[in-house]
Amino acid sequence: MSPAAAWCAQHRLRFLLPSLFLAPVLFFLLSPPSSPPVFSLPASGEVPPSGSRLIWAQRRLVEWRPCEWWRTAPVQAPSRRNGYIRIDCYGGLNQLRRDLCDGIGVARLLNATMVLPKFEVAAYWNESSGFADVFDVEYFIEQTRGYVEVVKDLPAEIASKEPFKVDCSKRKGHFDYVESVLPALLEHQYISLTPAMNQRRDRNPSYAKASYCQGCYSALRLNKNVQSKAVELLQTIPKPFLSLHLRFEPDMVAYSRCAYTGLSSKSMDSIEAARGEGRKVLTGDAARLWRNRGKCPLTPSETAFILQALDIPTNTNIYLAAGDGLMELEGFTSIYKNIYTKSSLLAHEDFENMHGNTKAALDYYVSVNSDAYIATFFGNMDKMVTAMRTMQGLQKTLVLSRRAFANYTAAGLAGEQLAKAMWDAHREAYIRGRGSALPEYCFCEFKL
Ligand SMILES: *[C@@H]1O[C@H](CO)[C@@H](O)[C@H](O)[C@H]1NC(C)=O
Ligand SMILES: *[C@@H]1O[C@H](CO)[C@@H](O)[C@H](O)[C@H]1NC(C)=O
Ligand SMILES: *[C@@H]1O[C@H](CO)[C@@H](O)[C@H](O)[C@H]1NC(C)=O
Repeated sequence: MSPAAAWCAQHRLRFLLPSLFLAPVLFFLLSPPSSPPVFSLPASGEVPPSGSRLIWAQRRLVEWRPCEWWRTAPVQAPSRRNGYIRIDCYGGLNQLRRDLCDGIGVARLLNATMVLPKFEVAAYWNESSGFADVFDVEYFIEQTRGYVEVVKDLPAEIASKEPFKVDCSKRKGHFDYVESVLPALLEHQYISLTPAMNQRRDRNPSYAKASYCQGCYSALRLNKNVQSKAVELLQTIPKPFLSLHLRFEPDMVAYSRCAYTGLSSKSMDSIEAARGEGRKVLTGDAARLWRNRGKCPLTPSETAFILQALDIPTNTNIYLAAGDGLMELEGFTSIYKNIYTKSSLLAHEDFENMHGNTKAALDYYVSVNSDAYIATFFGNMDKMVTAMRTMQGLQKTLVLSRRAFANYTAAGLAGEQLAKAMWDAHREAYIRGRGSALPEYCFCEFKL
C-alpha cells in the first residue's frame, strides 16, 4: 500500500460530515428567475390563489441561491504546477458525479492539472460509459478555465505511464489532502485519485472551494447526444408536470434494514433476494429508533398520502424519475393517475439500446427542468438535482420528510390528523428553507 493510501486508510475518524446527520427534510430553492435553458413551462409563473393549502403557494421566508463569491474565477493562480491528476469515479451516474466534483476541488487544492476523469461504471451498470459519453468535454474545459487546469492529453513523457493509484474512498473522517496526497503527486507526477466519500471541504482555501462550486455546478452539462435525447423526452411530457423520484426498489429496501408490513409476497421475495449478509431486518427498539431517524424509504402509498397532505392535486402530471424496479407502485398510481415514465415515452428500441448511465442522465435532466421536483429520499441524484434547480432559480423543490412521517405514525397519528401533521412539518421546513443539504459554501441563504 502506498503511504498516501495507507494514511487514508488508517487515519481515524475525526468527525463526520454534518450532512450525515441532517434530517431528510424538505426544502425549497429559489433564485431570481432566469430563463430556463430549454423550454418555458406555461404554468410555472402562475401564482396559486391565496389561501391555497398547496405547498408551493406558501410564502417563503428564506431562499437559497448560488453565492456570488465563487461566480468569478479566483484571482489566485496556482503558485506552481505539482503534477497531473486523473479522478477515478465509481458507481451510478450521480455518485460518479459527486466524486468528480470532490476531485475537482482536490485537484485545485493540490495545484495539479486534471486530465479527463475516468468513469468506472462496469461494476454498477455492466457496461462501459466514460465521461465523454455523458458530459460535454469542451464545455467542461472551458467553464473550469481560471479555476482549475484541465487537459485532454498528457505530455508525451507522462502519457506512456500508468498513473500511481491513490485510493481514499474508504476514508471516513476529515483528512488533509495536501499532507497525505501531495507527496505522492510530487514523486510520481501523475496519480489517479479516488476521493474520500464524506470529506469536509469547508476548510479548504477559497480557490479550491470556488473550483469545486464552479466545476460541479457550472461546468457539467450533458453532451449533445444525450442532451438531445433528453430534450426529446422532456418535450413529450405534458406540461406542467412534477418530477417525482420514488425510491422503493428491492435493493434500497434491503439496504435500509427496515421492516414493512402489508407488502405483496412478490415484493417481499424481491427484497429477500436483494438482502445480503449483514443486512438483517432490524427489530424491536433498534427498528423503532432507526425508523424515527428517518432511515426507512417511503412506500409509494405513503408517498401518495404525503403528496395529498401537501394538497398536490391527484390529476397532476407526474414523471416518475426512477428505474423499472419500483415495487408496490399501485399504491401510488391508484391515486395519482397521470403518470409518465421514460420507458413509456421513448421509442422501444431507442430505450433498449440505451446505457444505464444515459437513462439516469435522462431522469436527471427531466428533473432539473421540471416545473416541480419531489424526492422521497435524499440520495446522490436528489442532491445534484436540488442543487442544479437552485442554480436555475427553480424553487418548487421538495424532499419529503421520512423522519416526520415515522415520528407521527409512531405517535399513533393516522388519517386527517396525520395529514395535518405532515402538512405543518413540511410547510414549516419549506418556508424557512430548513434542512437544505446544499453545500453551504456554494449556496447562500437569502432572507426574503
Ligand atoms: C497552490 O497555489 C496557491 C496559490 O494559488 C498557494 O497558496 C498554495 O500554497 C499552493 N499549494 C500547493 C499544494 O502547491
Ligand atoms: C453483463 O454483460 C454481459 C455481456 O453483455 C452479459 O453476458 C451478462 O449476463 C451481463 N451481466 C449482468 C449481471 O447483467
Ligand atoms: C418526534 O417526536 C418527538 C416526541 O414524540 C418530538 O420531540 C420530536 O420533535 C419529533 N421529531 C420530529 C422530526 O417530528
